[in-house]
Amino acid sequence: MSRFILITPNTDFDSRLRQAVAGLYGNVQTYFTNMLPDDPSVLFAQPDPEQPEVLILGPEVPVEEALRLAMVLDVQFPELSVVLVGDPDPSFVLQIMRTGIREILSPSADPAQIRVLLERACQYHASRRRVPAAAQPAAESRKGMVIGVFSPKGGVGKTTIATNIAVGLGQIAPMSVVIVDLDLQFGDVASGLYLNPEHTVTDAVTPAASRDTLVLKAFLTVHPASIYALCAPKTPVDADSISADQITRLLEQLADEFQYVVVDTAPGLPEVGLAALEQCTDVVWVSGMDVPGIRGLRSGLDVLRQLEILPESRHVVLNMADTKLGLSVQDVEATIGAPVDISIPRSRAVALSTNRGVPLLQESPKDPAVKSLQGLVQRFNPAWRSTTQRKLHRRVVI
Ligand SMILES: Nc1ncnc2c1ncn2[C@@H]1O[C@H](COP(=O)(O)OP(=O)(O)O)[C@@H](O)[C@H]1O
Ligand SMILES: [Mg+2]
Repeated sequence: MSRFILITPNTDFDSRLRQAVAGLYGNVQTYFTNMLPDDPSVLFAQPDPEQPEVLILGPEVPVEEALRLAMVLDVQFPELSVVLVGDPDPSFVLQIMRTGIREILSPSADPAQIRVLLERACQYHASRRRVPAAAQPAAESRKGMVIGVFSPKGGVGKTTIATNIAVGLGQIAPMSVVIVDLDLQFGDVASGLYLNPEHTVTDAVTPAASRDTLVLKAFLTVHPASIYALCAPKTPVDADSISADQITRLLEQLADEFQYVVVDTAPGLPEVGLAALEQCTDVVWVSGMDVPGIRGLRSGLDVLRQLEILPESRHVVLNMADTKLGLSVQDVEATIGAPVDISIPRSRAVALSTNRGVPLLQESPKDPAVKSLQGLVQRFNPAWRSTTQRKLHRRVVI
């Protein structure tokens, strides 16, 4: 059985798709017709036990029929990734996605574009296969991990770290990660991910979105690294009208929908930040290698201990680590009163990635910071956690 099934009478599209697949493993079976079967199982009625991964509803297939088939497939073959080829009106996209179609591809896409999309569709198939529907936990326990990135000071690398965690987790769990920018006044997740979002947190906390999670999901922006982003309001003024209670509700909704919610925050602990902290299952504390920054982290942690709102899983990250700054890891640990879990070296590649709007883990060049960031991402991988739980806090060397 082929890995990709294409239905279209259009031979030109078939040939572009075949060029795209040439670089991937697996082959294509094309049904040269615009007629869709009533019973989709006939498409897969081959003696070979291997199941197809991606079904492409190609050019000239009537859209109404494509949507109807997609709905049936979503129930009968939930692991299958369904791709629709067309140029739908943006107002129609949400309706298309609701039928279970994962991706929409332009009929004029070139082989390189088709290939990127097919890779994503295959990743989706793989992620669905790893978690068979029957093994999914009951609704009550389905809440995702909420990972907040905090520090008392600005400029220490919170946004850099949050965007890399999100992109790294997107490789483990494609389309199951959302990053939320709660630096409401001056957030720069959009810039760090090279996004120009149509909607922001402002839309996501409106009554319509807080009542209906499908509306909320329509306000998320898709990023090419197979993650979703909810960016900060377009102007700092808009931030004033967002309350801590609204943020609590927002994070609850997102944790119900996504396996991972990554939260970037403003420096310090403003009210919105405290509300977010209370929703976090995991907190990443970031400090640079300067004495005021490290002391600030110590005071912050002390206050939170007194208030008893420290989430259970804590990860201390020493960023821009440099042995030539006159401080050792032991000095830092003694000051903050907690072990340093990950140290990320100062690296030009990181600074460059910020300016390009492409997080380091999106391309994973050869750079020492990549290894540290990957180590941080692994801490949120359930497979890693279950094997190394006892070593969650182990001394690092810089
Ligand atoms: N490990 C690092 N090495 C070099 N530059 C870094 C590193 N981490 C962050 N930076 C740079 O520091 C600047 C501030 O980082 P940012 O993530 O925006 O901090 P914050 O969100 O805490 O204000 C950015 O220009 C970023 O590229
Ligand atoms: Mg920031």
